[in-house]
Amino acid sequence: VELRIAFVGFGNVARSFARMLSERRAHLDEDYGLRWKTTAIATGAHGCITSDVGIDLVEAVACVERGGSLTDLAGTAAASGSAEVVAGCKADILLETTPLDIVLGEPATTYVRTALTRGLNVVTANKGPVAFAYAELKAIAVERGVCFHFEGAVMDGAPVFNLVERCLPGARVLGFSGVLNSTSNLILTEMEAGRSFEDALREARRRGITEVNADYDIDGWDAAVKAVALANVLMTADARPAEVDRQGIRGVSIADIESARADGNALRLVARGERSTSGTRLTVRPERVPSTSILGSVRGTSNALVLQTDLMGEIAIIENDPGIEQTAYALLSDMIAVHERAARR
Ligand SMILES: NC(=O)c1ccc[n+]([C@@H]2O[C@H](COP(=O)([O-])OP(=O)(O)OC[C@H]3O[C@@H](n4cnc5c(N)ncnc54)[C@H](OP(=O)(O)O)[C@@H]3O)[C@@H](O)[C@H]2O)c1
Repeated sequence: VELRIAFVGFGNVARSFARMLSERRAHLDEDYGLRWKTTAIATGAHGCITSDVGIDLVEAVACVERGGSLTDLAGTAAASGSAEVVAGCKADILLETTPLDIVLGEPATTYVRTALTRGLNVVTANKGPVAFAYAELKAIAVERGVCFHFEGAVMDGAPVFNLVERCLPGARVLGFSGVLNSTSNLILTEMEAGRSFEDALREARRRGITEVNADYDIDGWDAAVKAVALANVLMTADARPAEVDRQGIRGVSIADIESARADGNALRLVARGERSTSGTRLTVRPERVPSTSILGSVRGTSNALVLQTDLMGEIAIIENDPGIEQTAYALLSDMIAVHERAARR
């Protein structure tokens, strides 16, 4: 049986995943008995298509990368828009990778809700649906007997959600602290090396790691949305991004960094979640942490997350110098999980 895949969003992450999937076709079949075909792709400005026989992913990637329209691909039918594709495509799994919206998490949340309600498994790398509607979407997935996976929402493909769900049964997450935004960490560590904020931001842009709107990174929104995703999934918080006590790195000066260093500390943009009597308290702010601590020692684009648990004490996950392939891998690992669950039935 072939897993029928529909893409909504076919940008950097989805195309990197499409390449990975095409290159590993034989391995996936040999190692997991996973066979797949692509039956729909929806984009914002590069057309929306469906195909019962299967879309050639290599051709689709090349088409978008030369700025063409997917509707030019042979053997495909044009659809009027993404909403129509999500509501009507013949697929077993929807891969959602549209841009993050920090105000409402839309249209991604609507796409995910529609697909789950139709009985499709959903895999997303988008933080929005998890930060704005996790409890509701998870309940629909359970009710419909399908998977809702989102490993790529925090720390790309590094196992965060899967680690807790699959490897820490019976343990409760009491809190977390993390360096979760690569752009901010690159800027802070470049400033430690003497560069100005503006030069360091330019370097982050040059490496292509900033959000389309780099203010999301610098003002702590990206880290806040990730903190909410962690709290909602790992601590059943039902929080929203606007509730995070948030301060970004815009006001940080070289003098702040020097004074932290004089005391053996480093400045890091830290996202924290703590249980309190009134619920879960979430903060994102520049903090002085010991230079030799886990959070103090992550440099450049690297990320770190420390989970406090009741039965397993503290566990740390470090992702060293991630790139787009690590996000694509999140989609692959989630897709294999969907396949394995289907195979068990
Ligand atoms: N890049 C990373 O390293 C990274 C890491 C972790 C998570 N993520 C998350 O992964 C997601 C994708 O990131 P990306 O870097 O691949 O972004 P991207 O390159 O900007 O791609 C976004 C894709 O979504 C399409 N799109 C926009 N609006 C749409 C709509 N209403 N319906 C259907 N498609 C729509 C775009 O189409 P057009 O190009 O035709 O407009 C494009 O194909 C984001 O949510 C991001 O936060 C990214």
